[in-house]
Amino acid sequence: MSDDKVIIFDTTLRDGEQSAGIGLTSQEKMEIAKQLDRLGVDVIEAGFAASSPGDFEAVQAIAREVRRPIIASLARCVLPDVDAAWEAIKEAAHPRIHVFISSSDVQIMHQLRRNPEEVLDMAVASVERAKSHCEDVEFSPMDATRTDEEYLYRMLEAVIKAGATTINIPDTVGYAMPWEFAQRIENIKENVPNIDEVVLSVHCHNDLGQAVGNSLAGVKAGVRQVEGCINGLGERAGNAALEEVIMAIETRPDIYGVGTNIDTRQIYRTSRLVSDITGFPVQPNKAIVGANAFRHASGIHQDGVLKERSTFEIMDPQAIGWPSNELVLGKLSGRAGLRARLNELGFNLDKDELAETFVVFQELADRKPEVTDADLLSIMSSQRRISDVPAMYRLEHVQVSCGSHEIPTATVTIVDSEEKSVTDAATGTGPVDAVYKAINRVVQVSNTLTEFRVDAVTGGIDAIGDVTIRIEKDDRAYVGRGSDVDIIVASAKAYMNALNRLLATQDTRPTFDVPTS
Ligand code: KIV
Ligand code: ZN
Repeated sequence: MSDDKVIIFDTTLRDGEQSAGIGLTSQEKMEIAKQLDRLGVDVIEAGFAASSPGDFEAVQAIAREVRRPIIASLARCVLPDVDAAWEAIKEAAHPRIHVFISSSDVQIMHQLRRNPEEVLDMAVASVERAKSHCEDVEFSPMDATRTDEEYLYRMLEAVIKAGATTINIPDTVGYAMPWEFAQRIENIKENVPNIDEVVLSVHCHNDLGQAVGNSLAGVKAGVRQVEGCINGLGERAGNAALEEVIMAIETRPDIYGVGTNIDTRQIYRTSRLVSDITGFPVQPNKAIVGANAFRHASGIHQDGVLKERSTFEIMDPQAIGWPSNELVLGKLSGRAGLRARLNELGFNLDKDELAETFVVFQELADRKPEVTDADLLSIMSSQRRISDVPAMYRLEHVQVSCGSHEIPTATVTIVDSEEKSVTDAATGTGPVDAVYKAINRVVQVSNTLTEFRVDAVTGGIDAIGDVTIRIEKDDRAYVGRGSDVDIIVASAKAYMNALNRLLATQDTRPTFDVPTS
């Protein structure tokens, strides 16, 4: 990679997955990895192979299937971890082992309970082991921003001699301020004699809201790899939001003087997919991808933008693949029109997928005459939801009666994978509660509902409602999403989606029947 490009290292599937409340299946990780590939990231950290058999399998599957980018697995500085990382990525077209170890006194003393020289030896031994497997080895001194600088220089010099090809400086606890972080990078460049032999990288957390600022300060100070996650996911307050880092670099070449290999038109779709799969919403005022990021509320701003877009817009929404809310298709649109519009939005459907999507599109166009890009994206995410989970049960029918003087009552019909159909009814405190209770009477699997959210996909009274829920069982969270112009139906779909996800991880099939009492 030339020096005028910044390597974009995505760790959504590793650090992002460490966000409390996120648990991705292998299939979901693969789907995100494929989208990251379309986005053009240079490195995908697919997981932490030694952490669990599930993570190992997901890393291995991505290494086998996603061939363009570098595929990395994280490993602690213990030899079996390094070997497991290699086993998982060895079939990748471009494998990388990423080893890390604590370097700050506080972590070395209280967490590792070793002395600094032992830790340095572990780092060198692990890099040597990684190098015996793989040419491309990244090393991270964890908590680098709270590490004694002289010790840090010694450690970095030693691991570079041992074969590291990328040195990553993590602000693990999000403690640094941009100017001091930049200074630390400058100091490393000046005091580590062999630093020119490697790519210098940064990995910043957002505990004090500085993750993106620190990453960009790193770029300004000369680093050529930035690590982060889509939508700023990650441990605690998250990592640097990659879409923000990318767009800052692309929008201000006058400051950074570098570019990226990213296809920025895939940013919106990537953000949406990650939000969809993780169930972590994007706040409306979030930079780049929030719903309000390109909305002008004040009259003065609207007037300016109408006269000349650049008066109040520093980026073109189309540059990040922002969907238009213009009418694009309607009831009379045919398959060819739908296919063409979906192609423009980045979806290439085969014949069968197009046929299935067309049925859903027609149902929507019957109920909502103006179908916008945002509606199409919603259709595509619900189609994805249907095909991503092995659906043990499907919702055939839902009907609710409610009102100011009525006890909300719901009737549902659910069909299992053997086409056995069961109908039951329940009352509840509200219509959604009644629907969920009726579903519970049929699919008898205990769980706790921990989150329920409704979003309108587009403005207007006929907007599609997008419902996201999170249920928990045995300390594991399962996200469910459902969309419909009727939010009660959307809520029922979301619950079925979460239940199917939960059931896909259970060994035994629950009772599927009408209870006798
Ligand atoms: O935040 C951190 O220090 C990390 C390392 C494993 C790179 O995630
Ligand atoms: Zn991290």
